[in-house]
Amino acid sequence: MEPAIFVRELTKVYGRGAEAYRALDGVTLEVFPREVTLLMGPSGSGKTTLISIMGCILRATSGQVFVGGREVTSLGESELPRVRLEQIGFIFQGFNLFPTLNAGENVALALDLKGIRGTKALRRAGELLDIVGLADKARSFPADLSGGQKQRVAIARALAGDPRIILADEPTAALDSHSGRTVLDLLRTLAHERGRAVVVVTHDNRALSYADRIVRLEDGRITDGLMEEKVA
Ligand SMILES: Nc1ncnc2c1ncn2[C@@H]1O[C@H](COP(=O)(O)OP(=O)(O)O)[C@@H](O)[C@H]1O
Ligand SMILES: [Mg+2]
Repeated sequence: MEPAIFVRELTKVYGRGAEAYRALDGVTLEVFPREVTLLMGPSGSGKTTLISIMGCILRATSGQVFVGGREVTSLGESELPRVRLEQIGFIFQGFNLFPTLNAGENVALALDLKGIRGTKALRRAGELLDIVGLADKARSFPADLSGGQKQRVAIARALAGDPRIILADEPTAALDSHSGRTVLDLLRTLAHERGRAVVVVTHDNRALSYADRIVRLEDGRITDGLMEEKVA
């Protein structure tokens, strides 16, 4: 199967000279449609750096990233946001919802970037909220939603561009275990039933049972010399 993302010999160095810090050191991996890939590793191991480069929101120092078969590391500042918009949905630990917009409007705002506006956007936002089980919360504001509900709104928003790839950086870290399971369950459904390639950064061992594939990172390298392990 063609990988959704292929990362080859990726390095990322922050800072310069005596301050230079090598956060990623020759990382090679593939992620596939219809699978949940867990990216695990201790704090500071480079997980956020890696998923941010995969998501085209941070540039690598060297190496290559192919998104949907297209090499993106050499793309210019004007082209990269388009790849991100069309191919990738990104989910953050802290939800990143606009507090002054209700759930439907938060999702509709992302649709606006795709040129979908007005009543059409609000209707589509309703459909996306339905996918995450929040059809009845479109008019609720973030402050009136639980952490798990906020994260599901953020997932609905990530789906706005109909991306083939969903990247989530510690999506359950701020959630209680029940909400965390609901969110992981939803991400797995997006992979298995809707064919998305899903990458979840976590150091939560409870996520292990949701994985099709596990990649372990330590000090900016994939450990054990294993490129990845496929869960039986
Ligand atoms: N903008 C930055 N400038 C300098 N160092 C950074 C920056 N971002 C991350 N780092 C360093 O790179 C390493 C990896 O960070 P990160 O990718 O956030 O790891 P993780 O998400 O696994 O905790 C850490 O040592 C961190 O301090
Ligand atoms: Mg991190």
